[in-house]
Amino acid sequence: MPNNFISNVTAKISRLLRSNKVLSKTPTRDYLRDWVNEEGKEYRINVYQRQGKGGQKPLISNPTFQEVKQALRPHSPNSVLEVGCGWGRLLDELKDEFNVEGCDISDDMLGLCPPGLKVFKLDIVKVDENFLQKNMNHWDVILTRGVMLYFMNSPQQMAKALENLSRLANKKVLFWEWLEVCEHMKKVFSHSKFEFHPIEKRDE
Ligand SMILES: C[S@@+](CC[C@H](N)C(=O)[O-])C[C@H]1O[C@@H](n2cnc3c(N)ncnc32)[C@H](O)[C@@H]1O
Repeated sequence: MPNNFISNVTAKISRLLRSNKVLSKTPTRDYLRDWVNEEGKEYRINVYQRQGKGGQKPLISNPTFQEVKQALRPHSPNSVLEVGCGWGRLLDELKDEFNVEGCDISDDMLGLCPPGLKVFKLDIVKVDENFLQKNMNHWDVILTRGVMLYFMNSPQQMAKALENLSRLANKKVLFWEWLEVCEHMKKVFSHSKFEFHPIEKRDE
């Protein structure tokens, strides 16, 4: 059987499973598959094309840019890091008021960030101990939006990501995640630096 036939069928099955039409109501997420591996390329490019500026459903709320700014201001941060910054959607809005940097695991997403943004590659689950030591409490505030849900299937990944965030942030880590993700995070690893902002579970 030709190889490209087999890979077409495999890709189709994986799309069906992901599109939620088969087996389960909640699609399983896997951050390496969805954001790094070749298998997830179509998924992540679709997310960008749908939610980016000029897309079918540009992401401008849930939370709004104003809501993010309002949550940051009380902490008077000298530096802000967005973990899982994607194509720099939030950073681009925050950069005029805050000293922002972003990091992401996905080369595809980092490659879509506007050239002026300070971004770097980081897997928040597997942060090198040297990097952690060097950057302990380095960013006043760290934020994430729509990232932690990718660790819901692995309490180990979730706990590690949360521990790493607690070490890198000086004052606070602000999470904008679905309520069920927030509740799960609180059970897996809690820390006084964590501030939760549950967001609606919408069809985005
Ligand atoms: C749904 S997108 C959200 C992007 C951005 N926060 C926003 O709201 O526009 C999830 C992002 O998390 C990133 N991500 C997933 N797992 C990660 C990890 N282990 N470390 C760093 N970034 C990760 C993905 O590459 C992707 O860019």
